Amino acid sequence: MTDKTISRREFLERSVGGAMVTGVAAAPLNLVARPEAKVTVGIIGAGIRGLEVMQSVLRAGGNVAVVCDLYDGHLRRAQEIQANTPTTRDYRKVLERSDIEAVVVATSDHWHAPVAIEAMRAGKDVYCEKPMAHTIPEALEMVKVSRETGRLVQVGSQSLSMQSTHKGKEWLESGQIGNVYMVQCSIYRPDPVGAWKYPVPPDASPQTIDWERYLGNAPKRPFDAARFFQFRNWWDYGTGIAGDEYVHLLSRVHFLMNVQFPKSAASYGGIYKWTGDREVPDIHNTLYDYGKFQVVVMANLVSNFEGGEIVRFMGDKGTLVLTEESANLLPYDLGWSYGYPLESWPRDTKEPFVAAHKNDPLADVGTYYRQPKRKGEVFRQTAEGTEDHLLNFFRAIKARQQPIENVDFGCGTAVACHMANISYREKKQVFWDAEKLELRSEA
Ligand SMILES: NC(=O)c1ccc[n+]([C@@H]2O[C@H](COP(=O)([O-])OP(=O)(O)OC[C@H]3O[C@@H](n4cnc5c(N)ncnc54)[C@H](O)[C@@H]3O)[C@@H](O)[C@H]2O)c1
Repeated sequence: MTDKTISRREFLERSVGGAMVTGVAAAPLNLVARPEAKVTVGIIGAGIRGLEVMQSVLRAGGNVAVVCDLYDGHLRRAQEIQANTPTTRDYRKVLERSDIEAVVVATSDHWHAPVAIEAMRAGKDVYCEKPMAHTIPEALEMVKVSRETGRLVQVGSQSLSMQSTHKGKEWLESGQIGNVYMVQCSIYRPDPVGAWKYPVPPDASPQTIDWERYLGNAPKRPFDAARFFQFRNWWDYGTGIAGDEYVHLLSRVHFLMNVQFPKSAASYGGIYKWTGDREVPDIHNTLYDYGKFQVVVMANLVSNFEGGEIVRFMGDKGTLVLTEESANLLPYDLGWSYGYPLESWPRDTKEPFVAAHKNDPLADVGTYYRQPKRKGEVFRQTAEGTEDHLLNFFRAIKARQQPIENVDFGCGTAVACHMANISYREKKQVFWDAEKLELRSEA
């Protein structure tokens, strides 16, 4: 996952050991013939993620009939993945084709909604990378167009199709960790690639890149290869850590806690280390209020603690920790002690009290502090998530049913991510009115 994504290769390296990776990478793409996945797809935006999703489409059993991108090198790479794939720089050429049933939109964020909306109006179902939209109005427009056209949208936070997410939901819903009032999310990614200082290909030029088309609804400016290949660092094209990472983390939170929108968000952050060539923060922390529980997101591109994306659901009977590879159940022993305040009581008060409470099943009157016991359980998943997410989408297309991360769900996490950015940029707490579907500056 992540936008320095844990790729299928990395997932396998981490979870089954590097030795198997060579064999997996060399394996043919169409591993399983699945009639329900025979969907003809066009890829729009074939950079790092689009090319990964293209391979996942093929592995899942779908057809990739055309690939669209604005950099010639990415189109050549697509043809290395699948020889003779037709390519184009113009996404409308993809939408005109009657054989295309669905499109994958994996462009820079500022093109997600414009392409997805045109695709739905052209009769295509859409697998749209996260964040679903570059702005809140665009997200709301996507919901409207999806309803009007009856076209399906699957948003690409593949964690919703991870086995660990479903295991965690099962544990949470069966009461294993009690009531959850607090969720802690974290992401640490301190290296240059983690901070989106991606290398620029040496052949990048106005000849190999369709710069004018790339700008789209962004302000006009001269060719700038960094703004093309490192788009996440500028608000005109990207959405910073919130669009990149919060959406992955919050997708799991919204799914397990059955919520669509936060009620409010307050962010702090700044550019501390990766100065000079970016507008978006490299530390961005946000506190969300969801009414019945709070979520704190700690996102940090400058130092490391645990690595990766971690979500901790903190219940009153235990904690559930979701990582990119596993679900971990840490139930608490609810034992506790009267000891600390009793230290201040005189003997003639304390001793009768201790005697009266000596059979209390929970409280320990004898010791000063009782350490909670943890009898943990670990569930390790065997798949990275993207292929299963695509399969969920393909099955939804065949059945004309909503996929797991539908447009309403994607709208909720997009709104949450934009609330974090607006709070950071405007230096104020922001509130969401879920009835009127609008931002407010007061509760
Ligand atoms: N789900 C995940 O785990 C995951 C991982 C990485 C990236 N992403 C998302 O995928 C998207 C792309 O990220 P990336 O890392 O691949 O970036 P990238 O810069 O490598 O690729 C983006 C591509 O979009 C193309 N593009 C831009 N505008 C276009 C247009 N109008 N028509 C056709 N092509 C266009 C560019 O040519 C570029 O090749 C982002 O929204 C990101 O958030 C998701």
